[in-house]
Amino acid sequence: MTPPTFADPAAYERYVGRWSRSVAPEFLAWLGVPAHRRWLDVGCGTGALTETVLALSDPEAVTGVDPSASFVADAAARVTDPRAGFRVGDARALPLADSTVDAVVSALVLNFVPEPAVAVAEFARVTRPGGLAAAYVWDYAQGMGLIRHFWDAAVLLDPAAAELDEGRRMPVCAPDPLRALWTDAGFTEVRTEALVIQTPFADFADYWEPFLGGQGPAPGYVRSLGDVHRSRLRDLLASRLPVGPDGTIPLTARAWAVRGRR
Ligand SMILES: C[S@@+](CC[C@H](N)C(=O)[O-])C[C@H]1O[C@@H](n2cnc3c(N)ncnc32)[C@H](O)[C@@H]1O
Repeated sequence: MTPPTFADPAAYERYVGRWSRSVAPEFLAWLGVPAHRRWLDVGCGTGALTETVLALSDPEAVTGVDPSASFVADAAARVTDPRAGFRVGDARALPLADSTVDAVVSALVLNFVPEPAVAVAEFARVTRPGGLAAAYVWDYAQGMGLIRHFWDAAVLLDPAAAELDEGRRMPVCAPDPLRALWTDAGFTEVRTEALVIQTPFADFADYWEPFLGGQGPAPGYVRSLGDVHRSRLRDLLASRLPVGPDGTIPLTARAWAVRGRR
């Protein structure tokens, strides 16, 4: 399977960027980092978590790092707060000196890094002693409703799609592997937490159309299908999703968060 594409900021926002923005405040409340700290947002994407840090955590500075030049450009154009800065870079070789950050955070990234343990070792390297490193990932296997419904329907039509199901394929989407990554990197006071948000869709189009944008594994799979197969998948999903009396689709999404102290 080719790596997922992260290159179209607007399509990404409509697919899961908007939901990452809903998780971020809960995540920051759980971290409880004091004001006037130096933050690093690894895999910042279009800036969902960076913007929430600026809005809620009164940072001294936030640096966002992401390998996608178009996502970094989008974030830099939208986030004009002088405390924020964005750089193209990789989680496995962070462009920062040792022990220079008070809080390293990373939202929905670890499953897309080929060697997540190398990335978390980098988090430890750049965190100052006493500082914090933390992350969240979707619970692809169970609690991430919008993606769970998608793969369950896709596999009914095409059993081979099971191999692409993020719930099976993503190595780090549950508390135990998160805890192991943090402990192995030498962090102490390691904790994990479930963060659950509502992800209401206005109607079926609001649910389905973001899957046509090609950003991430499930939209990448949709893009690989022929017209007939894609229409059958759309119709099957429309028949299986729960619909409220007002036509909305009331799903929830769970992310697993981890934090540890250096
Ligand atoms: C699902 S998006 C999450 C973006 C953002 N953090 C959010 O919460 O919306 C995954 C991000 O991981 C980035 N990414 C992929 N490989 C990476 C790597 N090796 N190092 C850092 N970030 C990476 C992608 O470019 C993409 O922006």
